[in-house]
This record gives sequence, structure tokens and C-alpha cells, in this order.
Amino acid sequence: QKVVLAYSGGLDTSVILKWLEEHYGYEVIAVCVDVGQEEDLVAVEKKALSTGASKAYVVDVTKEFITDYVFPTLKAGAVYEDDYLLGTSFARPLIAKKLVEIAEKEGAVAIAHGATGKGNDQVRFEATIKALNPFLKVIAPWRIWDLKSREDCIDYATKHGIPIPVTKKDPYSRDRNIWHLSHEGGNLESPWNEHDSSIYMMGVAPDKAPDTPAYVEIEFEKGIPTSVNGIAYDPVEMIHTLNKIGGAHGVGIIDIVENRLVGMKSRGVYETPGGTILYEAHKSLEKLTLDRSTMSFKKTVSEKYAQLVYDGLWFTPLKDALDQFVNSTQEYVTGKVRLKLYKGTCKAVATASPYSLYNEEFVTFGEDHVYNQKDAEGFINLFALPLTIRSLMKFENEKE
Ligand code: ARG
Ligand code: SIN
Repeated sequence: QKVVLAYSGGLDTSVILKWLEEHYGYEVIAVCVDVGQEEDLVAVEKKALSTGASKAYVVDVTKEFITDYVFPTLKAGAVYEDDYLLGTSFARPLIAKKLVEIAEKEGAVAIAHGATGKGNDQVRFEATIKALNPFLKVIAPWRIWDLKSREDCIDYATKHGIPIPVTKKDPYSRDRNIWHLSHEGGNLESPWNEHDSSIYMMGVAPDKAPDTPAYVEIEFEKGIPTSVNGIAYDPVEMIHTLNKIGGAHGVGIIDIVENRLVGMKSRGVYETPGGTILYEAHKSLEKLTLDRSTMSFKKTVSEKYAQLVYDGLWFTPLKDALDQFVNSTQEYVTGKVRLKLYKGTCKAVATASPYSLYNEEFVTFGEDHVYNQKDAEGFINLFALPLTIRSLMKFENEKE
């Protein structure tokens, strides 16, 4: 019988690969899903085979990740707990979807992953697998075996001839893709420790950024970014370009304590340089093009959307329905935004759209044709009628 393993080439998933063979006698098919983690995936494939996988897949889904996961979430304006741009969260359903596809193609009976039993990722992987194929069994070794630590894994690896990465012990648990990089664990586990800025990998620390600000101009079509500084990019190149620009100016670093779905709080430092620029740009274009009540209702939708994404409920009817609402709001979110990046900050400084609802003629203090100041009097009389009535009542009662 075959099992499909979400394989990264690291110590944990290498140990899992061997353990699946040893423990269940499964034939293991290693699958490395490329979401832009910038690793040598040819080496990962080789390592899978040399560790005992019967077959290894490397599937590049970076483009699909951006167009089908990142952009819809950007259009929704979804941000978890005010800060987190969901970089790990929305990569999980896509990775799980690929695992399911390969499991079906290979006739595998199970899917195994290396997420721990304490985190969000296990939920995201498994909720997706259940939504797409309820017949596949899930194996989460971290919830089963009695290896408890990195040291246990090293012992196991040594015993089974698995090469142990020569890189020196890294205290952090990281997850990287083209959109973001997360750091958790290590000395971040105490929220009283200020994080060390030498951990950054996608950019420089804000205080090391250039003393002169940079400007960047982004064009959107129906809520989707299409060009940067006047140059049209395909989605992958666009994010790479924005990561470089944002990273160079220390943009998009957050350090938060968040509520995990499984109940505990955790602390993490996340880098999302390009994504932060896109969110800021998109938000200010919406301020120009969305009407007041749509904007206000969309805020509620954004929050719900963020929670669904964080909780791994990507393949759900509610998420599909929210996407339809969001897409309908994006019809006129077309135009351009100029942003100023400076020592970790990213602010929109200018916006323009052919569908702008902002009209200098209407808002001006001079003459205009659509607004008659006399109308305001009647409007205020009715708008404030409840206040007038209540006030009259109070005066009546206070007479005695
Ligand atoms: N806390 C973040 C989230 O839940 C990041 C998780 C990172 N995952 C990892 N396996 N290192 O989305
Ligand atoms: C893990 O526990 O595997 C990583 C953290 C998380 O999933 O939240």
C-alpha cells in the first residue's frame, strides 16, 4: 500500500519517511510542493529517493498560489487579528490539494504530514483533505510516535542512516513561501523577549534601510495588481519584484501574539514585504472607488474571510459565497496607487482611478451642479428627527 508524504527535505519529514516504512510497511511517495520557498528542490527530490521513497514528486504551484489563493485574499482585504497577512495559512490548502491529487493518481490510501499536534497547520491540511477526498486516511506522526524533540529525531536519523543537515542548530521553526516567511519558537517563546532583527531573511531591518524614501507605483485591474512602476509583470515576477523593493526598505515585518485555532496563543515574527505593499495599495484604491456602505459591509466580510483562511476552511461553501461578494465589489477597483516606502513604513501617497467616486468638483468649496446647499437643511431635519423628538420629550418631563 502507498502513502503520500508532504516532504520538505528537512530532518522531521525525512524521519517521518523512514518511520512510515518501518511502522506501517507503506511504500512512501514523497511530494514536495513548491510554493516559492526558495530551496534547492532537485536536492530535496534526490534526498527523498535516497532516504527510501519509492517515488518523488516536485510540483511547482507558485503561480497558482498567487492567482488562486493570494489574490482572492488580497481582494477580500483579509487580515488575521489586524496584522497577519495569512502567508502560511493559505498555502496549506493548496499543498493539501496537490497531495490529494497525487494520492488519487497513485492509488495511495493515506496522506502523511509533518505538522505537530499543537498547531494550525494540521487542521488546515486535514480539513482540506477531508473536503476533497473523505476516503483518504491521514497520518500525523507527531501525534502518534514517541519522538519528542529534535534530539530524538537526530537519534532516529542516525540509527537509520538518514543524513542529518550539517547546518548548525536553528532554534526557530520557519515556514517560507513566495508571499511570506514565519519565525516561531526559540527565544520568541517568551513574549518579553524583543526579537532579534538578525533573523530577517526577506529584507533588512527598518533601521538599516536607506535614508532616502523610495516610491513605487502599482496598477490594479478589478482588484488585481497588474503592473509595478509601469511595467506589466506575471504574478510570480510581480511578487518577487515587490519583495525586493519592500525588503530593501524593511517593509512588512510584524511581531505578534496570535490566537491559534487549537486554543493556545503563540508568538511569531512574520515577513511579508511585497504583500504589505499590495495590501496598502489595494486598500487605498478601494477608498477611492467603493461607496460608503459597501466599504463598511466589506469590512465585516474581510474579517470573516480572514478567519476562514486562518482556520483552514478554504474549500467551504461560505468561502465560495464570500468570494462572490468580494468579486462583485472589485468591479471598479481599477486604477493606480503611488506609495512611499521609508524605514519599514509603506504609505499610499497618491491614487487615481477612471472609476473614482471622489470628485473634486463635488467636494470643492466653490460652485457645483450636483449639490445644492439648501437641500442640506431638509436632510438634516429628517436625519436628526429622532434626536429632536427625544430632546422634546426630555424638555416636557423636566417642566414639572
Ligand atoms: N502561526 C502562523 C499560522 O498559523 C504560522 C505557522 C507557521 N507554520 C510552520 N509550520 N512553521 O499561520
Ligand atoms: C506546527 O505546529 O506544525 C507549526 C505551527 C502551526 O501549525 O501553527
